[in-house]
Amino acid sequence: MLIAQLSDPHVRPNGVLYQGVVDSNRGLADAIEHVLALDIRPDLVLVTGDLVDEGLPDEYAMVRHILAALTIPYLVIPGNHDDPTCLRAAFSDHRYLPLRGPLHYCVDDHPVRIIGLDSTVPGEHHGHLDQAGLDWLADTLAQQPDKPTVVMLHHPPLVSGIPYMDDYRYFDESALRGVVARFGNIEAVLCGHVHRPMVKRWANTVLCTSPSTATQIDLTFAATATPSSHDGPRGYLLHRWTKGDGLLSHTVQLGTFAGPYPFA
Ligand SMILES: [Fe+2]
Repeated sequence: MLIAQLSDPHVRPNGVLYQGVVDSNRGLADAIEHVLALDIRPDLVLVTGDLVDEGLPDEYAMVRHILAALTIPYLVIPGNHDDPTCLRAAFSDHRYLPLRGPLHYCVDDHPVRIIGLDSTVPGEHHGHLDQAGLDWLADTLAQQPDKPTVVMLHHPPLVSGIPYMDDYRYFDESALRGVVARFGNIEAVLCGHVHRPMVKRWANTVLCTSPSTATQIDLTFAATATPSSHDGPRGYLLHRWTKGDGLLSHTVQLGTFAGPYPFA
């Protein structure tokens, strides 16, 4: 099973640039074009939050328009820039999304079970799951404790080391870690939010974050660092699962580069 993970497209209304400078709509369209041009077609696409930048209905109309080019089934979860009401309305035909409450769900149609978690907190940019969300996750995982499973949520439950990103990280990760660590069948926990690829051993599994299809957060560790990002390299993750061998995750960078050259 091949799973493409696109994250943080931050789509804007038609003709509007992200942060006034970056064509994030083009970035998502380019990523979709790249996915469709792979020499093996993915079975599923995951979009791990911040589908749009300001939660506006016009932005959701645009993200649906761009995603319509995907001829592969896709699942979405919300990020801190999404508006849950507008997202639900825009994706009302996505039957896996619950009609009310947090947008947690489980899709069991594939060799790998996909669990989507809603880590957003209304009116805030940090992430968190309340006790009801943790209980839902524990119950859902307990229903199929042997089937390979991927859990996705927008906010990675880690400290990135980039100070201004950590100000609105996932808060109180220990309770979530405690639930995930109880299960041995979780191939990976897939996240967005940090607009950079990161990998961490976490809760007896692997935690991966995806680059954004829009801007990338700069790699700065100093406490005095000011928030900054660059228009590239844009990218996405490609997760290849094979029976008996598990999940392997590739980082795909978008762009054109010199080559191909012989390699031997
Ligand atoms: Fe984002």
